[in-house]
Amino acid sequence: MKNQVKIEQTIKPFQKEIFVSSDKSLSIRCILLSSIAVGRSKIFQLLESEDVMNGLKALSKIGVNYIKKKNYVEIYGVGINGFKIKKNTVIDAGNSGTFARCILGLCSAVEKKIKLIGDKSLSKRDFSRVIKPLNLFGVIVKSKKKMLPVELIGSNLLRPIRYIENKGSAQIKTCIILSAINTPGITRIKAKKSRNHTEILLKNLNYPIKVIKNKSYDLIEVKGRSQFNSFEYKVPGDISSASFFIVLTLLSKKSQLIIKDININPSRTGIIKILNKMNAGIKIINKKKYKGEIIGDIKIKSMKKFKSINCPTSLNSAAIDEFLLIFLVAAKSKGISIFKNLDELNKKESPRLNLAIKFLKMIGVKVNRLKNNIKIFGNPNLELNGHYHIKNFLKDHRIFMMSVIAALTLNGKWKIENKDSIRTSFPEFLNILNKLGAKIK
Ligand code: S3P
Repeated sequence: MKNQVKIEQTIKPFQKEIFVSSDKSLSIRCILLSSIAVGRSKIFQLLESEDVMNGLKALSKIGVNYIKKKNYVEIYGVGINGFKIKKNTVIDAGNSGTFARCILGLCSAVEKKIKLIGDKSLSKRDFSRVIKPLNLFGVIVKSKKKMLPVELIGSNLLRPIRYIENKGSAQIKTCIILSAINTPGITRIKAKKSRNHTEILLKNLNYPIKVIKNKSYDLIEVKGRSQFNSFEYKVPGDISSASFFIVLTLLSKKSQLIIKDININPSRTGIIKILNKMNAGIKIINKKKYKGEIIGDIKIKSMKKFKSINCPTSLNSAAIDEFLLIFLVAAKSKGISIFKNLDELNKKESPRLNLAIKFLKMIGVKVNRLKNNIKIFGNPNLELNGHYHIKNFLKDHRIFMMSVIAALTLNGKWKIENKDSIRTSFPEFLNILNKLGAKIK
């Protein structure tokens, strides 16, 4: 079987309710935190994608056992500083930047050598962003060019740090928080706003963490070495996965969709705020609280006229994984849309800013770039009639899925390679599309 999909017609109008896969960020945090909790945690609706499963396998290499039951995964936590490390331990994070960066913080007190490796894409990503704070704690991290593979030698004499995280990266913030948990004393982080699931989960576990919120920064204080008990958690749907269906519906004709039980933590809903400023009319209904997170159903209708946007950079972090889709809507809008300071977008599973520009130009959309700022010249009548072959896009799962949405809404004859990439984050993507009538093999 070819690792490719062919799409030659747009999707027919649909009116449906769907669920999408569980949240990847929360799934990874649940396995990390349950590994150092005391006792058996039960995680319901854990995302069973490669990123998360690789994480579980990696944890089992450092002494954390887990069992997959019918409705949940049971994880046997070893408590803070309870990992059991054999000689020459190698941990493979696969494609997951989140797991790779966070596991380094989680293992900061392990005095034996651990080697961390990843796939081709992860091995090109920057690790200096976590090596720097880890060194300040007293952790030794050896690497070539601050990329994977890295060797970590933790310490039992860690010292608390004060750190300014100014990229708006939740991965860096979480790595520091996890290392702070291993460290006696109080670690203080001034962190530019980014997704705050780790802080919320820890607060819910009654872990001694304090967060003072400011407009663009949070001040976080973590008291180290406070054991906490195992827990139960039911992971809600992932807004990053829902976003493909939000944009599918907006750009399709005469369609309506409700996406149920999505985590709508404000640090993740940048795409909704941005698209609504562009006239999308997306609504959130049935809001409820769950262990400090907010969950709701997202209601979307097809929309004919989009306005261009001068996108506030304050929304960049909350929409960081969704910009590919936002650019697609900008390409269909009236006027010129402007997006600025997108340097972090080039630090993802692929250099996504560069590849998004390549994609947009390939489908005939005019884009101007100045450093990490781009202007997209929208055309509300954009309809494609050429042949498009998406092949050299570095197997990026989000580029694969965005291309499928473009093919199903903008017309043209498409061949899109690397179907398997959806296994990293959203294995059900094509099945759900087919339930809506897409007919993709
Ligand atoms: C993630 C944070 C984001 C995001 C990634 C998942 C997380 O990365 O792009 O897909 O779960 O913490 P950064 O924190 O590096 O921006």
